[in-house]
Amino acid sequence: MSSQLTQIQPLSQPVDIGDEVATFSPEVEEEIDAHLAKYPVRRSAILPLMFIVQRERGYLDPPGVAYLANRLGLRYTDIWEVATFYSMINTSPVGKYHIQVCRTLSCKIRGAQKVTEHCSHKLGIKPGETTADGRFTLSEVECLGSCGTAPMFQINFDYHEELTPEKIDQILSSLP
Ligand code: FES
Repeated sequence: MSSQLTQIQPLSQPVDIGDEVATFSPEVEEEIDAHLAKYPVRRSAILPLMFIVQRERGYLDPPGVAYLANRLGLRYTDIWEVATFYSMINTSPVGKYHIQVCRTLSCKIRGAQKVTEHCSHKLGIKPGETTADGRFTLSEVECLGSCGTAPMFQINFDYHEELTPEKIDQILSSLP
């Protein structure tokens, strides 16, 4: 019994981030300072700062995590826990257009699987993959809060609802 107890691991494991810390232009630092000034508790600025780091670096990479930990006075693990919870934060590189197909109940009942399959077939990639030209990444995510207009997906920050194969074709071909 006691040997089993000693095998229990803590909930948060240390995150190996490496030594590099991201740096930003004075303009971006100013933008970050402006967000920090809005919150009485530094860590409350974690999401807006994550969006800035992601925008500047393409995704939340390890040097970006180290930067956020320094600016917010948090552990790497604290940053990583938040980053891996939200589907709008990318912890690996994504294409120019990130297609996030909702796969939760309303969308599932109304054909989310077919939406994913159609995108997958059209782009030649599976969920979790990026096209060779770097234009599209396909992901499946949980409820995006647009259940009444299911099935739907999000491309970058835009919602596309009541999807049909024809509508998906039209949306994808209209992207510059
Ligand atoms: S179930 Fe798809 S948006 Fe809510």
